[in-house]
Amino acid sequence: MALRLGDIAPDFSAETTHGNINFHDWLSDSWGILFSHPKDYTPVCTTELGYMSKIKPEFDKRNVKILAISVDPIESHKGWVGDINETQNTTVNFPIIADTDRKVSDLYDMIHPNADDTLTVRSVFVIGPDKKVKLTITYPASTGRNFDEVLRVVDSLQLTSDYQVATPVNWKHGEDCIVVSSIPTEDIPEKFPKGHREIKPYLRYTPQPDI
Ligand code: BEZ
Repeated sequence: MALRLGDIAPDFSAETTHGNINFHDWLSDSWGILFSHPKDYTPVCTTELGYMSKIKPEFDKRNVKILAISVDPIESHKGWVGDINETQNTTVNFPIIADTDRKVSDLYDMIHPNADDTLTVRSVFVIGPDKKVKLTITYPASTGRNFDEVLRVVDSLQLTSDYQVATPVNWKHGEDCIVVSSIPTEDIPEKFPKGHREIKPYLRYTPQPDI
């Protein structure tokens, strides 16, 4: 069955371009992103892994580890990484799982037979330090993902796990947040001393509390 938000991200051992890992041990107390791509030496995947390498410092700042996966073998990954580095002007700086037996792909339901019965689609899982699945995204093979959006969601997830706020449409780090509805309006000043705006009794904004 497909993984749902709040499920424990299944643990596994796997061979990667950075050696063998046990997923939960490797994550330790970090957040994690596990993302699949259909195939090595393909154009969209090349741009995706190149871009992810470039913005990895942003994920590092947020204590998020990155792990890629496809069903191609390790030697293929290693050769392709050279192409990514060359063509995308970067250095791939995270491990890529060689899931040749599709063990991890099956655990995470990354193969969608009605799209392609042998290759992984473009899945993204964000996993919290509690090892629970916080976000799932599935893109078709023909559409490269927006990893800036994944970073934006990580910002929202980390903020909303620490404060009683939610983030509105298209929110970005630094913008006003929504006070969760379980907080009575009269309690807002004490909890959010930066102030608040009440648009409707159910729609109350406050400045981002952690900056
Ligand atoms: C690509 O990464 O370019 C790609 C991979 C599989 C199918 C279609 C496109």
